[in-house]
Amino acid sequence: MDTDLTFSSRRSPVVCLHGCVASNQPLASNVGLDILKHGGNAADAAVAIAAALAVTEPCSTGPGGDAFCLFYDANTGEIRGINGSGRSPRAQTLDFLKGRGYTAEAPPSPFDAVYVTVPGAPACWCDAIQLFGSHKLSLQEVLRGAVELAEVGFPVGEVAAHHWANWVAALRDAGKELGGDLLIDGHTPRCGQVFRNPALAQTLKELGERGKPAFYQGRVAQAIIDVINRNGGVMTLDDLSSHDSEVITPISTEFKGVRLWEPPPNSQGLAALLLLNILDSFPLKVEFGQIFWI
Ligand SMILES: *[C@@H]1O[C@H](CO)[C@@H](O)[C@H](O)[C@H]1NC(C)=O
Repeated sequence: MDTDLTFSSRRSPVVCLHGCVASNQPLASNVGLDILKHGGNAADAAVAIAAALAVTEPCSTGPGGDAFCLFYDANTGEIRGINGSGRSPRAQTLDFLKGRGYTAEAPPSPFDAVYVTVPGAPACWCDAIQLFGSHKLSLQEVLRGAVELAEVGFPVGEVAAHHWANWVAALRDAGKELGGDLLIDGHTPRCGQVFRNPALAQTLKELGERGKPAFYQGRVAQAIIDVINRNGGVMTLDDLSSHDSEVITPISTEFKGVRLWEPPPNSQGLAALLLLNILDSFPLKVEFGQIFWI
């Protein structure tokens, strides 16, 4: 290697005109790029990628989880965000948990249904499109790439296959009805094996067609509370239908001349900002890559 090349990675940074996306999975990034090519903006592409990651990397993320959104509007310079996290069931009070015999020393087991909170991600996706999207593409069009990956199938990536395999026992223990969607003949997919997820395809398709009610009311909502309640949880249809995301004011800190933004608590963004403030008192050499705005 040239000794006068001071760049410290083997990969060159991506430099490009018109737009750029990045995610853990090339297949998901491709879905986001398609959105940009069809006139969508960064918010549209981010939602498309989030849904595509739920398909291609279900061991990391999914519509059953939460989401936070930060959006920078290049026209106004304004940064706004969405809190897409959900609450625990209303009936799940401290007294309820004490009544079950749980204490700080004897908490529920990691797979207990009481840990399941109302999924915030699908509402956050819908709201991100509504508040920050280009409005040139419908939610249905934004989610189409993810639906297609789930319906047609996709070859599973190396790292995803590895992490997926870590959950094989839990998926088998959960039984065919619960864990079966993420297994092929009782096994997690190998790297390169084509994996289909027709159930997730159906849910994403309905979300695209009908928006939030397709998830927080009706078939999907009922399926969520059925499985939680069968396993000792107390979530109700009302917990789901009364969920909504909130618009938040981001927080920020200055680090080596750069201002960094995060959503406020209850997101974990505060930890990143605190960390930077701590690092600021150490003599670290930090070089930020240049970003060219066209
Ligand atoms: C975000 O939403 C959660 C759950 O809905 C709520 O408990 C929390 O207070 C909200 N945080 C902010 C900063 O809006």
